[in-house]
Amino acid sequence: MRFHFALTLQALWTGVCQAAMQHYPAAAWGHYDVCKSQVYSDEGLTWDYMACQPEAADMTQYLKVTLDPPNITCGDPPETYCALENPYMCNNECDATTEELAHPPGLMFDTEGRNPTTFWQSTSWKKYPKPLLVNITLSWNKTIELTEDIVLTFESGRPEQMVLEKSLDYGKTWQPYQFYATDCLDAFTMEPKTVQDLTQHTLLDIICTEDYSRGYVWKNDKTVRFEIKDRFALFAGPRLHNMASLYGQLDTTKKLRDFFTITDLRIRLLRPATGATMVDENNLSRYFYAISDIKVQGRCKCNLHANSCVYDKEKLSCECEHNTTGPDCGRCKRNYQGRAWSAGSYLPIPKGTANIYCECFGHSNRCSYIELLNTVICVSCKHNTRGQHCQLCKLGYYRNASAELDDENVCIECNCNPYGSVNDRCNGTGFCICKEGTTGPKCQECLPGYLWDNGCKSRVCDNELLRCQNGGTCVSNVRCSCPTGYTGLLCEKRRCESELGGCRGSASSSRSSPSLPSDPSSTPRRRH
Ligand SMILES: *[C@@H]1O[C@H](CO)[C@@H](O)[C@H](O)[C@H]1NC(C)=O
Ligand SMILES: *[C@@H]1O[C@H](CO)[C@@H](O)[C@H](O)[C@H]1NC(C)=O
Ligand SMILES: *[C@@H]1O[C@H](CO)[C@@H](O)[C@H](O)[C@H]1NC(C)=O
Ligand SMILES: *[C@@H]1O[C@H](CO)[C@@H](O)[C@H](O)[C@H]1NC(C)=O
Ligand SMILES: *[C@@H]1O[C@H](CO)[C@@H](O)[C@H](O)[C@H]1NC(C)=O
Ligand SMILES: *[C@@H]1O[C@H](CO)[C@@H](O)[C@H](O)[C@H]1NC(C)=O
Ligand SMILES: *[C@@H]1O[C@H](CO)[C@@H](O)[C@H](O)[C@H]1NC(C)=O
Repeated sequence: MRFHFALTLQALWTGVCQAAMQHYPAAAWGHYDVCKSQVYSDEGLTWDYMACQPEAADMTQYLKVTLDPPNITCGDPPETYCALENPYMCNNECDATTEELAHPPGLMFDTEGRNPTTFWQSTSWKKYPKPLLVNITLSWNKTIELTEDIVLTFESGRPEQMVLEKSLDYGKTWQPYQFYATDCLDAFTMEPKTVQDLTQHTLLDIICTEDYSRGYVWKNDKTVRFEIKDRFALFAGPRLHNMASLYGQLDTTKKLRDFFTITDLRIRLLRPATGATMVDENNLSRYFYAISDIKVQGRCKCNLHANSCVYDKEKLSCECEHNTTGPDCGRCKRNYQGRAWSAGSYLPIPKGTANIYCECFGHSNRCSYIELLNTVICVSCKHNTRGQHCQLCKLGYYRNASAELDDENVCIECNCNPYGSVNDRCNGTGFCICKEGTTGPKCQECLPGYLWDNGCKSRVCDNELLRCQNGGTCVSNVRCSCPTGYTGLLCEKRRCESELGGCRGSASSSRSSPSLPSDPSSTPRRRH
């Protein structure tokens, strides 16, 4: 089942379709086209833009009802009831095992207009004065936006005390929506109010009303309401002629949107109708709850990113547009995180709702829109990637030629030898930049003439070209072990006896060294 969106702005909340409207396939259009329709007006064929949301529908078709206590429905064992108005009329039987005499919860949601009326009925108040408490919980497992008054029809007389509660988190937490009592002060220590007492500023106030708890005997007074439309009217004016004003408020005020949003409703029945007189303790079969109808009109909440909602496998979900996803279109599709997610707009002008494409190859869940550059970049690229689309390898990593761009192993660490290489970077095939004397892809090997010692150091001595002089011996190619009286890398200097005297003969022996340049900073300075 699917409900579709063909509505004009004026009709949005009522779900009425405008007659002369046509639909075209969405594919050929630009960004927001799925939420506009062609209409015939005085000027001919024109586009009509609209908020992108599913049509309002009867939400009682999609709910799950739970009663608490679970055995509170009448008929097991069978019971006889008296009419509330007339204690001598005690011929109403409830028997769960006989279809015609059973009153299961489903009868609150069946088609109305049958004769006789079908209704759910509770056990009677046999445990008086212990209160007769019943919770009726309606769960959608989906966020719903209410569009019409919630209306309950009681066949038992309206309860003397009840609370309507709502949940926005699938039944985890509950908040009161409205209190109902014949005497608000007595029942809930609240001043009685009516929806007419509310203003734009107090719209979100939770009130206790005495409007729906009396007059049980009159057929016209069987209903208990939660007034949605009167609350809308505080912004949209009487008869809701200025919906644009309401939409403007809903667009900017999350609290207001949330007020009309639910995932679950709970009707807490706290005290049944007892009539004008005291409770007749001898005849408690007069007191019970019976509900023939519950009306809940609303639409799937899709954050203005879907114009239809489907019911599949006992579950409502939005058919998300604008590259959004989730049961409420509450987040961006993978790879469509070009802008932070935001709700769509009620206003008919496309306004900051869509999410543009940004490929991050699965290395980032987040993108950022840089307004100044009108461009989108992936944020916090993972797996050692970097770049606008996480398409490059971080410095110190190189591209794995056998991995696709969206592979977690796409970047391989350069692993340059810290002693042998100039820095930790490498080229596209993993080759590092080597210091003098080192070689190999990671600069971990020495060229001929060099020895590894935390990097490659050139040889100091050997037994061929770089011989130690004056009888010194070469130790592991890195130093000469000099006899007493000689010093220098190759034992080419005479050890000086006195600091002031200088070292005669040292200059000539130093110059005779074939490959080592003489140290320009040492001996010449002393000559001054
Ligand atoms: C009804 O629900 C309320 C919470 O919303 C809970 O405190 C109360 O115990 C429930 N009553 C029954 C009879 O289950
Ligand atoms: C419903 O069940 C509870 C506990 O299981 C029990 O105490 C109560 O008497 C039952 N009520 C009826 C009307 O059968
Ligand atoms: C509610 O819907 C979710 C999927 O969105 C599903 O996993 C879960 O089982 C549903 N819960 C109930 C109680 O149906
Ligand atoms: C209710 O009261 C009337 C009159 O007092 C009596 O005839 C009838 O039997 C009572 N019903 C029950 C169920 O006690
Ligand atoms: C969704 O993404 C596609 C690219 O796959 C793009 O053409 C389209 O315009 C996007 N839609 C919106 C509303 O941004
Ligand atoms: C390169 O990618 C392939 C494919 O994912 C993977 O099997 C391989 O281990 C990667 N190489 C390195 C050095 O990480
Ligand atoms: C990386 O450097 C090596 C060695 O210099 C060279 O053989 C190779 O072609 C270079 N690769 C790239 C992609 O430049």
